[in-house]
Amino acid sequence: MTANLNQLKITKPDDWHLHIRDAEIMKAVLPATYRWASRAIIMPNLVPPIVTGADALSYAGRIKNSIESGAEFEPLLTLYLTQNTKAEDVVESYQQGIIKAVKLYPAGATTNSQNGVADIKKVYPVLAAMSEASIPLLIHGEATDPQIDIFDREAVFIEQILEPLRRELPDLRIVMEHITTKQAASYVLNESRNLGATITPHHLVLNRNVMLAGGIRPHYYCLPILKRESHRLALIDAAIKGDKRFFLGTDSAPHLDGAKIDVCGCAGVFNATFAVEILAQLFDNLGALNNLEGFVSLHGADFYKLPYNKEKLTLFKSNTALEMPKTLQTEVGNITLFDPLMPVYWQILE
Ligand code: NCD
Ligand code: ZN
Repeated sequence: MTANLNQLKITKPDDWHLHIRDAEIMKAVLPATYRWASRAIIMPNLVPPIVTGADALSYAGRIKNSIESGAEFEPLLTLYLTQNTKAEDVVESYQQGIIKAVKLYPAGATTNSQNGVADIKKVYPVLAAMSEASIPLLIHGEATDPQIDIFDREAVFIEQILEPLRRELPDLRIVMEHITTKQAASYVLNESRNLGATITPHHLVLNRNVMLAGGIRPHYYCLPILKRESHRLALIDAAIKGDKRFFLGTDSAPHLDGAKIDVCGCAGVFNATFAVEILAQLFDNLGALNNLEGFVSLHGADFYKLPYNKEKLTLFKSNTALEMPKTLQTEVGNITLFDPLMPVYWQILE
């Protein structure tokens, strides 16, 4: 990294948790990511989900065909774990380089998770094989018992599912995806091996008031849901100190406006477009710009045992705040961009 007060040159970042969907939406949203990221862990919760190595291979082909010529971007595929997942398929797909990880969605926890895992004990044999082969398990860490309050689901998941799983399979490498609570941050901080966590830009810059106070704002509704301010501060503390266990996963999750603004609107924030600019501004506001590169470009690669990107990304601090467009138009409808509700002066030098 080289830096002066108004310019910052860092290793080109990666996004360790990204939803790009498929077909027209994928074509429309992909450039928002490869403008600043070299690689991204691609979430498998399509309809139908990416459940086999063959599915992942064909999805990778569709992604590569959607990338404009001249653009460089490496999609890192994942498999969606179901109670029918075959350990051999997982291990083979990983060893052939088709996938980089497996995603665990507790059944019913979030968008398109109905094919996920209802009983974690049933997939322990697959998880044991993954542990043996050193394949990362990416976890959507929310309890699904409808009795549990939505704001408590992450903390309960850690106690009821994650901690027993870690005791059973201590060598399994796990990423707690999009952590949102001080319980999750401190759980990761107390573990010295085989555990990392992604954190999203929106959970770092906003709390639940923006979604609920003074009117309901469906574009801030995501899962795990935004939490209270004390949790946001715990996430900031985890992200900005240079701790290798924490890295960027935008969880950019585009939905057409019609699906967001509905009597039962769906969860997901489309934040890929200005994720790095927003984080640069946040880290700058907190006097932590020196640790931006670790969070967005280095720690995730270390966890996944991948080389750092050779390309660089230069950011500069403009005198005027970035004007962010409000929507992305696609052939099938509009998608509203994430608004961080703060001025962002950092910009990418194109
Ligand atoms: C994601 C989606 O829309 O696919 N939604 C979200 O709110 N984050 C699913 C997920 O990551 O939970
Ligand atoms: Zn996600």
